[in-house]
Amino acid sequence: MPNYFETGDYPLDLKHDGLRKGRSARDGYARGWGLEYGGMREEVLADSVYVDAMSLAHGRTIQAEPCRMNLFLLAKYFLPRVLEQSGTASGSIFEFGSYRGGSAIFLAAVCRRLGLPVRVYGLDTFEGMPPTDKAVDAHNAGDFSGVDLAELRAYVESSGLSDWLEFVQGTFEETAPAQLGGAAPLLLAHIDCDIRPAVAYSYEAIRPWMVPGGYVVFDDAHSSSCLGATEVVEDLVIRRDGLNCEQIWPHFVFRLWPHGESVESGSNQTSELAELEYRFRIQRLEGERAFASLTADRVQHKHDQNLLELGATRSRLEQVLLQLASLEAAHSELDLAHSKLQATRDGCLSDLQQTRARLEQTQLGLTDIEAAHRRLSEAHEHLEQQVSMARSSRWLGLGRLLGVGPEFKLAK
Ligand SMILES: C[S@@+](CC[C@H](N)C(=O)[O-])C[C@H]1O[C@@H](n2cnc3c(N)ncnc32)[C@H](O)[C@@H]1O
Repeated sequence: MPNYFETGDYPLDLKHDGLRKGRSARDGYARGWGLEYGGMREEVLADSVYVDAMSLAHGRTIQAEPCRMNLFLLAKYFLPRVLEQSGTASGSIFEFGSYRGGSAIFLAAVCRRLGLPVRVYGLDTFEGMPPTDKAVDAHNAGDFSGVDLAELRAYVESSGLSDWLEFVQGTFEETAPAQLGGAAPLLLAHIDCDIRPAVAYSYEAIRPWMVPGGYVVFDDAHSSSCLGATEVVEDLVIRRDGLNCEQIWPHFVFRLWPHGESVESGSNQTSELAELEYRFRIQRLEGERAFASLTADRVQHKHDQNLLELGATRSRLEQVLLQLASLEAAHSELDLAHSKLQATRDGCLSDLQQTRARLEQTQLGLTDIEAAHRRLSEAHEHLEQQVSMARSSRWLGLGRLLGVGPEFKLAK
């Protein structure tokens, strides 16, 4: 799509350029009116950067299309300017409330396609909302649970987006200070967490880290189900910090200016912005001090943990030494038992040999006995034959003497 923002060829003819009350009314109109009435939606839909990024986020976001399109316009046409004006080599985008990851994936994919040196951080419990303020929040604790974070991270990896995107799990209070402190300067904060305590905390957390003119987008502060988010914009952003928004549709967009540049001279906005600048400086310093004291606490905590671990390791070492000594004693006992066993085995082997020799002798004796037995049986048989022959010849002789035949013996 043509870069109306660069050429100044805005859909609406506005006279003012630069900033008015810390925001560019022309930029806000160009994006908001352009999307709502000026045919910019169709142009965005035909933009291959949008189409490719959307195909990666498909099925993973509940963000309304106009809001996603406005983020697209901010990322494509305004972040490069913010980067350039702030003189930072790289920057970051923080999203407070990522749910299934769709809007963060979309932003990261746009940055990758455009070659922007920007990393996106998606912060969420990924286990549903923490407690809400039931005086003003329609949502309840536990809403938006059921996210498969392991699958989401694997998807980021397989989509090749790891260098542009990181999901950080935990409540914002637990994760944001360290993440913001460790990231490149903040260019855009996408606050999409619906409930008063979370929206208020996110806004307070990002202020010290924002580059001059960086964008704060409140995704749901104008939504009928998120009066808690609206209240934060009313109480903190507008009433307390005195900011005017650059866009109210499709979502609230504010800009944070620590240095108050680009104001109309001669107006009392110079002093307003000077005061704003002063407040921002103090906030940044407070943020840096909080981060430094957090880091010091972490280092002290790590040191204490290391000492504890050292003590535990030393006592484990002592136990191991004791075990080693008793193992050595057991080893010598085993050696002794082993030599005894060897002696017993040698004795058994010689007993076995002797027994075997005796057995062989016994077998020889048995063979002799069997042979003698055989000879005895033969002699016995022979004797029996002789006795029988002698008996027959005796009866024959007696028959002859008596003058009778051999039947005599039979009759007898
Ligand atoms: C509307 S959803 C985010 C939608 C998402 N950006 C998308 O593209 O679909 C709001 C998310 O804010 C998260 N949330 C709200 N308060 C939080 C807190 N204090 N810490 C961490 N996450 C929080 C919820 O867990 C929920 O997933």
